[in-house]
Amino acid sequence: MNVLGIESSCDETSVAIISNGKLVSNLISSQDFHTQYGGVVPELSSRAHLQIVLPLVKQSLERAGISAGQIDLVCATAGPGLIGALLVGLSFAKGFAYTRRKPFIPVNHIEGHIFSGFLMEEKPEFPYLCLVVSGGHTLLLLVESDTEIKKLGTTIDDAAGEAFDKISKLLGFGYPGGPKIQEAALDQRTDFTEFPVAQCKNPYDFSFSGLKTSVLRFIQKEYGEPSKIPSEHLPLIASSFQYSAVRALISKLEKALQNYPVKSISLVGGVAANKLLRDECSKLSIRYKKKFIVPSLEFCGDNGAMIAYRGLRLHENGIKYTFDFNAFPSLSDHTFIK
Ligand code: KG4
Ligand code: ZN
Repeated sequence: MNVLGIESSCDETSVAIISNGKLVSNLISSQDFHTQYGGVVPELSSRAHLQIVLPLVKQSLERAGISAGQIDLVCATAGPGLIGALLVGLSFAKGFAYTRRKPFIPVNHIEGHIFSGFLMEEKPEFPYLCLVVSGGHTLLLLVESDTEIKKLGTTIDDAAGEAFDKISKLLGFGYPGGPKIQEAALDQRTDFTEFPVAQCKNPYDFSFSGLKTSVLRFIQKEYGEPSKIPSEHLPLIASSFQYSAVRALISKLEKALQNYPVKSISLVGGVAANKLLRDECSKLSIRYKKKFIVPSLEFCGDNGAMIAYRGLRLHENGIKYTFDFNAFPSLSDHTFIK
């Protein structure tokens, strides 16, 4: 059984092949040119996906040592994401499957992330708590099976990655902010400034806009404006923000651990690449005697492997898709986050 997975929801075009349950290729092409605009420009993203998707599929088939005709199942991200960007990978995948009379599975991008822990040697065990932290989403979930995913909490304003990106912009580090904040924080030598963590009505919800405002107020009070921050003070602000953001995430995860008898914890999404967050989740799992699964860095950011894997699991669960004339499949039939 050969599975083709295509991801094109934002600024990564990625194509993966899983052969007989083993990942044999996961190619990722990142659109680094967005850095000059300080964020992703949707139309440029769509055009870049269009140029690279076919060469990536050809290269993936070569790597896997199979021909296009040997693909048995085609999966692609169908949302959420940038409409134009999604349309490129999705239309390509649907066309690929339709012309070869092969099954196609539309995959919810977040569910791709949720199951990305299964790409690791040690896999999550149901039921598990999953913290999804990406540029567009922050979710705390109880994953009970392939098709039972309970939403415990979400962000009421900015996503975790978005907060990293905004603070990075404020400090003049640029986009994407997460890795830049993490790097700057490494040079921090003095005490942290503690920024407050917002409390929400739902104990499992997150809020990052207050944290962003606190950082801005701190900068205004201490320096007048961001451009006046002495460069030797930047690591302190970066690390204080990072520390506060991680604390906000960990505190909600810990609350859920106290109330849900789970077997494992999984941390996924682009922000799961953050070393402090990985370390703190790991410590928490040791304290609560839970298995902790975090994908390797290759599978934290957007990738085709997680899409192929999630699609395969849905296919194995008997989930089907019938081709029609709508560009976007109705994701309600293929989404299990409730
Ligand atoms: O999952 P992802 O690749 O794309 C979305 O689906 O959104 O996540 C991208 C986000 C960006 O906001 C980026 O700044 C953040 O992940 N990120 C990080 C790190 N690496 C990437 N945030 C914190 N620390 C990192 N090391
Ligand atoms: Zn993502």
